Amino acid sequence: MPKKKSILDFFKMKKEGEKVAWVTAYDFPTAQFAEQAGMDMILVGDSLGMVVKGYKGTVPVTMEDCIAHSQDVRRGAPNTYCIGDMPFGSYQVSDEKAVENAVRFLKEADMDAIKLEGGRRVASQIKAISDAGIVVFGHIGLTPQSSGQLGGFKAQGLTVESARDLIKDAIAIEEAGALALLLEAVPPEVTDFIAKKLKIPVYSIGAGLPCDGQLLICGDMMGMFQAFTPKFVKKYANIAEIEINAFKEYIKDVKVLTLGCGAAIATSKGWNTLIVPSLLIGVWGYIIGNYIGYFVGMMLQTIFQ
Ligand code: KIV
Repeated sequence: MPKKKSILDFFKMKKEGEKVAWVTAYDFPTAQFAEQAGMDMILVGDSLGMVVKGYKGTVPVTMEDCIAHSQDVRRGAPNTYCIGDMPFGSYQVSDEKAVENAVRFLKEADMDAIKLEGGRRVASQIKAISDAGIVVFGHIGLTPQSSGQLGGFKAQGLTVESARDLIKDAIAIEEAGALALLLEAVPPEVTDFIAKKLKIPVYSIGAGLPCDGQLLICGDMMGMFQAFTPKFVKKYANIAEIEINAFKEYIKDVKVLTLGCGAAIATSKGWNTLIVPSLLIGVWGYIIGNYIGYFVGMMLQTIFQ
């Protein structure tokens, strides 16, 4: 089994140009599969609100949700670097609250790091959490928790001014003590600039290739999340189709077995030539069985009366 990576490995990978592959996971089996596949890291994203719980966004997700799912993931991937995602409301109120909640991810769910959204406006929370000895991942660009302010799930950094803002945010995040940064839905040129400018590893989700690694949401890449699929996502499987077909097959089997009839089995299997003979055998079996039952009953009656 490969050794569990540390944040130092991710700095080394940046230096050596080795890309990091990470994915979100929210449950025990997915975490197991990711670890078995050799994933570099796992994010227990608050995207669980959309992917697992069916919310429209991530805002309703609570600390309790994130801790519970982080625990499930840790049980499934004991040897993978795991990042807990701080949900909306868990770090905005004060530095103290931010540290308190960040600590919970380590103490209660054995996470290796936490991630939070925002640039300069959360620099003091990043510093406070980092000063408490916790590895912080920053996250800027399309930040789903503040998608209301962004006017929806929209790409960021498209104008010179907003690209400049992103760069200022990225620098502030590094200066505040974050040890990695995730860029979401920003132009690859901006990603390239930031990845070269910062000493910390810079990762992309829908922000192009020129950086230190890629993140995808497991529900998107596995074809499980059906509400929408972002344009940049490559679907590596179609789990929804596989599951729906398996469920259909099972439903058919249950109905057929309940009937307990050869003709029904022949129909479900597509053995068309056997349908009529099985039906006749079934009907004759029923008639003969009834007659035998009737005569046996009569005999018993005459014997015991
Ligand atoms: O919650 C999450 O999965 C995330 C990604 C969208 C980056 O924060």
